[in-house]
Amino acid sequence: MIRSVVLGCGSYLPAQALTNDALIEARKIDSSDEWIQRRTGIKQRHIAAEGEKTSDLATQAARAALSDAKLTIVDIDMIVLATTSPDDALPATAAKVQANLGMDHGFAFDVQAVCSGFVYALTIADNFIRLGQARHALVIGAETFSRLMDWNDRTTSVLFGDGAGAVVIGAREGQGTNDDQGILSTHLHSDGRQYDLLHTDESRCVRMNGKEVFRHAVINLASVVDEALEATGFKPEEIDWLVPHQANQRIIDGTGKKLGLPAERVISTVALHANTSAASIPLALATAVLDGRIKRGQIVLLDAMGAGFTWGAAVIRW
Ligand code: ACO
Repeated sequence: MIRSVVLGCGSYLPAQALTNDALIEARKIDSSDEWIQRRTGIKQRHIAAEGEKTSDLATQAARAALSDAKLTIVDIDMIVLATTSPDDALPATAAKVQANLGMDHGFAFDVQAVCSGFVYALTIADNFIRLGQARHALVIGAETFSRLMDWNDRTTSVLFGDGAGAVVIGAREGQGTNDDQGILSTHLHSDGRQYDLLHTDESRCVRMNGKEVFRHAVINLASVVDEALEATGFKPEEIDWLVPHQANQRIIDGTGKKLGLPAERVISTVALHANTSAASIPLALATAVLDGRIKRGQIVLLDAMGAGFTWGAAVIRW
């Protein structure tokens, strides 16, 4: 059976990093570093420069992932870009990335599942590969979420950041068992009845009922992680790394605890990146792979939850 193996990963962060104090000062927000750190774990976020677009961030992350995979754009059959902050309403931001990378074959499209976008995009690309419709796919999560902020709304403006992460996945022969290298299972969910709890208003600014989002996040993440364990038959102690969506350290800790994983086996980058929506998981993955924590052969569990609501998980033997 064909498996999608992660062949390389990369990331890109805009040059400007703003600490909580610097953001509060620059945007005149009625908040404090102490409040933000205590409630969310966030210390700083990167903010895209004027004129720097989601496609620019995505292109940089994609180049890094291609180089890590030791492949060139000629090898890539499809690009799937998860984003909530596209360059334009149309065409897809993935089309711009395709052009930026000099890719004149194959196909490229966007996926919109907000903070679960990367898990959705990875699932879609995995299915294309396992069906034999693509051999190599570039899967990207990229956001300029700072452009969706009402800086006067302190309940959202301190939570988000900009960035991009990418992986290259490729078809490899497997035996159909958990010993195979590659993506072993994926699980997607959505519940559109919760649309209004986290959405953009008529001026394209994020509005959120933080308490309700928090409550649903804890419940949905726990259930999809259980589902992934049940589907694969792995016990929690067999998971080497949890790479969760990076929204809030308290949500990350909650999921890790529920799994019984020590904090050292949960990848957290929320302190430095804040919530970069669809970019958060590939950014965290790239961080932990490139610093040597995640190694070949280990079991990695991704989980995500976002507006919609959407949520999902993926189990990968790295
Ligand atoms: N600075 C200072 N005070 C603030 C700020 C701020 N930035 N924001 C809110 N407050 C105040 C509130 O006004 C409130 O004051 P009051 O008690 O006088 O009314 C007080 O802090 C407590 O507010 P709550 O909303 O009850 O704070 P809570 O403990 O729920 O934390 C938070 C808020 C951090 C947003 C939390 O609800 C959360 O993390 N929710 C999850 C949201 C999330 O991560 N969304 C991202 C997208 S979805 C996803 O990625 C999972």
